[in-house]
Amino acid sequence: MEKFDVVIIGSGPGGYVAAIRAGQLGLKTAIIEKDKELGGTCLNIGCIPSKALLTSSDHFSFAKTEAAKHGIVIENPRVDLPTMQKRKDKVVKTLTGGVRQLMKTNKVMVLEGMGTITAPGKVSVKSSGGETQEIETKNIVIATGSVPIELPFAKFDGQRIVSSTEALCFTEAPKKFLVIGAGAIGLELGSVWNRLGSEVTMLEFLPRIAVGFDLELSNLLQRALTAQGIKFHLETKVTGVKVENGHVIASAEKANEKLTFEADKVLVSVGRKPFSEGLGAEKVGVEFDERKRIKIDKHFRTNVEGIYAIGDVIAGPMLAHKAEDEGIACVEIIAGKFGHVNYDAIPGIIYTNPELAGVGITEDQAKEKGMEVRIGKFPFRANGRALANEDVEGLVKFIADAKTDKILGAHILQHAASELIAEPTSVIEFGGSSEDLGRTTHSHPTLSEAVKEAAMAVEKRALHIVNR
Ligand code: NAI
Repeated sequence: MEKFDVVIIGSGPGGYVAAIRAGQLGLKTAIIEKDKELGGTCLNIGCIPSKALLTSSDHFSFAKTEAAKHGIVIENPRVDLPTMQKRKDKVVKTLTGGVRQLMKTNKVMVLEGMGTITAPGKVSVKSSGGETQEIETKNIVIATGSVPIELPFAKFDGQRIVSSTEALCFTEAPKKFLVIGAGAIGLELGSVWNRLGSEVTMLEFLPRIAVGFDLELSNLLQRALTAQGIKFHLETKVTGVKVENGHVIASAEKANEKLTFEADKVLVSVGRKPFSEGLGAEKVGVEFDERKRIKIDKHFRTNVEGIYAIGDVIAGPMLAHKAEDEGIACVEIIAGKFGHVNYDAIPGIIYTNPELAGVGITEDQAKEKGMEVRIGKFPFRANGRALANEDVEGLVKFIADAKTDKILGAHILQHAASELIAEPTSVIEFGGSSEDLGRTTHSHPTLSEAVKEAAMAVEKRALHIVNR
């Protein structure tokens, strides 16, 4: 029986990054994956393919509505969806192939099949062909991720009632596309199909979109997406979905009103849940919380010795970068080093246009907690580069401690917010203040100058706006 130092179950960003780090640290490592390709949800059916389609559809929107403003004439631009989908598939293939190569270079053994923990230190791997292999290991890292939540009255059929997986692969834009849940997935995929010609209606239970993000910026995002043609129904609880004559009919409640929506397809994007089916963790005594997440301590240890867990299967935001950093820290701890994740500095992004990004606390959270904070804001319409780009929508907002000036949160709404949020994230990681950031020289002309100015606005000394 082959014996390892670490066996990682699941090859998503959490698992494969943990495997690379384990290989770097000289641990004899294996990674088990039940699917054909490595990379998990993120690379195969999540972050990467959605960003490929978001970028392509954004280019199309530019050609249709923005190019003329730059003096570029593009007559009747149209979409060649098969080519767009092929490009997306190629990007995915390049990345999943890259992960396989990285396993080789880091001497990580890849075992294809379903991994089941049969006892502490023992894992069986059942291949799709039905053969079973038993392996022994000093440590097990569970990185099995999450799956979409299904509504009891709207079971996924893959055709009319779909999850994000199918909504990434449509061969034509549905004429009418209904989206249940205005979170990251709904807003991103709603944007893709809206840009590609669908009539998109979003139904959201809460009185706002993008829950978890700064409310003011979320409201501005909703306004921008409404201007792009997406229809929103907030405080609307979907209570039933049926398919009749090839059409989807959703019933919903808004206040005391009963509403009906008809569409060609409906995306159910009401959240994801941890995945641990067939893993055998319960059988060996691993404890779960009330939301079926594996319980861990500060060192990613479950209650069973030698079994660790990271990523979407434990508590915290279900984000690839959070899983990656947990994977690294977990394996470093296994190797006897100091591994650590700073949960106060994990950015979240919704890749719409404009993109919505946030890190640390929001203004509302600060209010709820009764914290004394100062706010600094700067709009992109006062930023030279944004004007030159003809891309002035959005703003930067900082939340700083009123006494110490330490930055506690940063929120950005802008076409390039996903890139811009990296700077405030680093400053938060280093425990920096708004003054630190405001006194840092930023290149001119760049969008990042708006980040600097928002930091300066905390002390009411922004230069290109009237400070209030
Ligand atoms: P989510 O939890 O972000 O949003 C789901 C929304 O559905 C909530 O606003 C909720 O109020 C609403 N909802 C629930 N039941 C409903 C009902 N019956 N009727 C109407 N509305 C209802 O979930 P989402 O968007 O599915 O994303 C899942 C996870 O994946 C999240 O943790 C998210 O952070 C992550 N993700 C992150 C991305 C990113 O970082 N860009 C992209 C995609 C997913």
